[in-house]
Amino acid sequence: MQQHDRHHNLLERSSIGALVAQIARQFEEGGVQDARRDAEILLMGLLGCKRSELYLKDFSVEEDFLKTVGNLCQRRLKKYPIAHLLGIADFMGLDYEVNPSVLIPRPETEVLVTETIRLMRRKHGEHESILVADIGTGCGNIAVTLAKTFPESKVYATDISKEALEVAKRNAQRHGVARRIHFLLGDMFADLDGKVDFIVSNPPYIPTDDLEHLPVEVKREPRASLNGGFDGMMFHKRLIRDGAGHLEDGGYLLMEVGIHQAQKVIETIEANPSWRWHYTVSDYHDIERVVVSQMRLSSRTEDTAKSGDYGQVDY
Ligand SMILES: C[S@@+](CC[C@H](N)C(=O)[O-])C[C@H]1O[C@@H](n2cnc3c(N)ncnc32)[C@H](O)[C@@H]1O
Repeated sequence: MQQHDRHHNLLERSSIGALVAQIARQFEEGGVQDARRDAEILLMGLLGCKRSELYLKDFSVEEDFLKTVGNLCQRRLKKYPIAHLLGIADFMGLDYEVNPSVLIPRPETEVLVTETIRLMRRKHGEHESILVADIGTGCGNIAVTLAKTFPESKVYATDISKEALEVAKRNAQRHGVARRIHFLLGDMFADLDGKVDFIVSNPPYIPTDDLEHLPVEVKREPRASLNGGFDGMMFHKRLIRDGAGHLEDGGYLLMEVGIHQAQKVIETIEANPSWRWHYTVSDYHDIERVVVSQMRLSSRTEDTAKSGDYGQVDY
């Protein structure tokens, strides 16, 4: 009965703002980080609207709706990620199906993809045919964004997880690019035949010993999407070692890296005669997040970028 009354209180206040505040308070008390953001995402997901529309919604609170909200709040308080509760996550303005077999796309990865798009435009233009490989595609967020942005591109998307690839395929269909993304199941470059112009990867990069200290929400994501080996850079090293063999002359490798990893990854690149390190891109927290390098072949094919294209780039 008490529960029922509380719902009616909300019903009387009945504005979305009041409901967001109520949920955010519960989340805050339950130790959920970003309580208000999660409250908004929960309601946006249930109402099928964007943040800009949320507070404008002509919203009549119904008992069933409040029951659903209440159930989801309880699960959020048990530290299930909001994206798992809704089955959807936003990446660069598009909705992606997610479930516990894929990493939930992160804002940091938008920096990686934004830089990849910038470089692809600069090198090829939007309507040239470009070949790209996305190594460790997860839910397919990187591959789908690139395929959508470059209508003539062909993207190879690999993953070691069969379940992740199933999700990625559905996301490619959802966004109308399934025909131009080739999904390859296997280790790293898997059965990637032939060469591509760009390799992009957000590999697992948490050092193994740090995995047990992650927040409960993150521990609910697949270990294979997080575990980067003893120093967190096992996959970066493999991308650097094997990547050049899969790139066209002068092709690019863009990798997302974890905190404090950029300099060590750059050292690995510079120690390898196949590569020339170009620059890093920092994320919104000023953490070096993306390392960009180019395959070194002849001086003829190497990039002759203008000064200012090198060194640190900030977003
Ligand atoms: C950090 S997640 C990135 C997911 C997605 N690309 C994104 O940026 O949100 C890393 C992905 O690499 C995959 N992975 C792990 N080991 C792999 C391997 N040996 N070969 C290919 N993919 C692997 C995981 O299954 C996971 O989907």
